Amino acid sequence: KKGFDKSKLKFTAIKPVDAAVDAFTVPEGFDWKPIIRWGDPLFADSPAFDLNAQTAAAQARQFGYNNDYTDILPIPGSKDRRAVLFTNHEYTNENIMLPEGFDPAEARAIGRAGHGLAVVELERKNKNKPWSYVQGAPLNRRFLTDTVYELTGPAAGTNLVKTIDDPAGRWIKGTLGNCAGGTTPWGTILSGEENFNGYFAAPGTSDGDKRYGITSKATTRQWELDEPRFDTRNSGYANETNRFGWIVEVDPFDPTSTPKKHSAMGRFKHEGANVIVSPSGRVVAYMGDDERFDYLYKFVSKGKYQAGDSKEARKNNMNLLSEGDLYVAKFTGDSPADIDGTGKLPADGAFDGTGEWLPLVVNGTSAVPGMTVPEVLVYTRLAADKVGPTKMDRCEDVEPNPRTGKVYVACTNNTDRGKPGKEGATEVNPRTLNRDGHVVEITEGREQTGTKFNWNLLLVAGDPSKNTSAYFSGFPADKVSPISCPDNVAFDSVGNLWISTDGAPGTIGYADGLFKVTLEGPERGKVEQFLAVPRDAETCGPIIHDEERTVFVSVQHPGEDGSFAAQNSFFPDYVPAGATPAAGAARAPRPSVVQVFRK
Ligand code: FEO
Ligand code: CA
Ligand code: CA
Ligand code: CA
Repeated sequence: KKGFDKSKLKFTAIKPVDAAVDAFTVPEGFDWKPIIRWGDPLFADSPAFDLNAQTAAAQARQFGYNNDYTDILPIPGSKDRRAVLFTNHEYTNENIMLPEGFDPAEARAIGRAGHGLAVVELERKNKNKPWSYVQGAPLNRRFLTDTVYELTGPAAGTNLVKTIDDPAGRWIKGTLGNCAGGTTPWGTILSGEENFNGYFAAPGTSDGDKRYGITSKATTRQWELDEPRFDTRNSGYANETNRFGWIVEVDPFDPTSTPKKHSAMGRFKHEGANVIVSPSGRVVAYMGDDERFDYLYKFVSKGKYQAGDSKEARKNNMNLLSEGDLYVAKFTGDSPADIDGTGKLPADGAFDGTGEWLPLVVNGTSAVPGMTVPEVLVYTRLAADKVGPTKMDRCEDVEPNPRTGKVYVACTNNTDRGKPGKEGATEVNPRTLNRDGHVVEITEGREQTGTKFNWNLLLVAGDPSKNTSAYFSGFPADKVSPISCPDNVAFDSVGNLWISTDGAPGTIGYADGLFKVTLEGPERGKVEQFLAVPRDAETCGPIIHDEERTVFVSVQHPGEDGSFAAQNSFFPDYVPAGATPAAGAARAPRPSVVQVFRK
């Protein structure tokens, strides 16, 4: 336990910021600066961003929209002066990107080009200076809706994933609805395909369509007008929806590499995946399915991790997520009689208990009656339904603490818990109409690969001045920052947990933000707010480089409830009304990756 609370990143918590404020707020003594914004040119030939002259061709050569999962990895041999930034681009907000009356076909194409992934090189003069991105750098890359991904694992090549465009069932165009993610110990990036269902029109009648929220309604984006694959009723495309909902793996250091979708990790509304190497060398990935009453999963690789950067090690590690076991979590509380749905602490003084990882696929064999391995992997939600896992309050990020191995599960909220016909509160999801969410802490056995675990709730979120059920592991509730709707999590170098939020404006009335949570010692449960994001924005992809006293966040969907004519946010350029924007700037909200650093 030595070394906790030794972080060099010292700050005084900011006061909560009213949700209507359109500002990026940082602690005293800190400053902030965007590294890259929606529309910034990535390649030597990319046009500069011009809000009033947007085209799909330009967007395809520029930084995309709604950056979510983000990481920054040093480029080896660059003496800390060069790094590679990865972000995904979850979705687009055409209502604030484009004026009313914009050509609909071009608007759809701009929307498509704003989706996907990006890899961008960064540079800085020295360790203490902020990063800038490098236009035209060799590793810069955009992944668009026509970028080809290789499907790996047991579902690849099966009849469940073949289409008229891909009779082999191995080559998938595009990635959609990318939400959170993780960085592997071997230096690749994982990204979760989450709300892919909304991009497709379909029969909507099969068990699979129904369980994944795929309907016969025309989609909001109407991409089916441009590409027949977005309506699976079109001949040859019945399986197109089965090609989304996977964990994607990208090698940001090889711009010619083919990104992968890993079928062995199951198909659901993947929030993200985070990997830890178990003492045995097998790697374990934790994954949430972000839907009310859906499940928490874990993948255990068949192969073992090889340390080092040799070609052989790299090749081995790049295949670890293609083959392994898949489990789904069942939580049992030790004081169920105490649970009344109000979030009141049970009589034994803790929300806690034991848990079990229920097998779905083990040793290449299906553990689900009546389903083959490819069926379990393509229709993972249907398979899990059959084995009795615990219905959770929307698992978002799930991440092991690299200092302790304990796993943190952000349950963002579940306003349906306890409603008529819906499951009520249990010890692990202890509130009915759970608006504010909670965080589960899982303690695995010595091997992360095992099937038994212990758990407790680290915190039950809320504004303690208004909600007596808010709980912070016993830390005094009058000494914490109010927090609601935990979403992404990260750790600093000494093992403190950092939580970014998505939804606080609608629950506690404050802007979303980034919070540090002390995990060990007498201040366990202390929540301190580090920053707040602008109006309508969600805080994503936190990266804590505490040794450099720097924090990075993705600011997603600033101003999304406004319109092009009446914008809610002017982040991050903040061009005053009537002023002429500087070159590349705009008087409109722009999702951006922001760095926060000591002045
Ligand atoms: Fe895209 Fe689950 O948040
Ligand atoms: Ca208990
Ligand atoms: Ca999320
Ligand atoms: Ca969310």
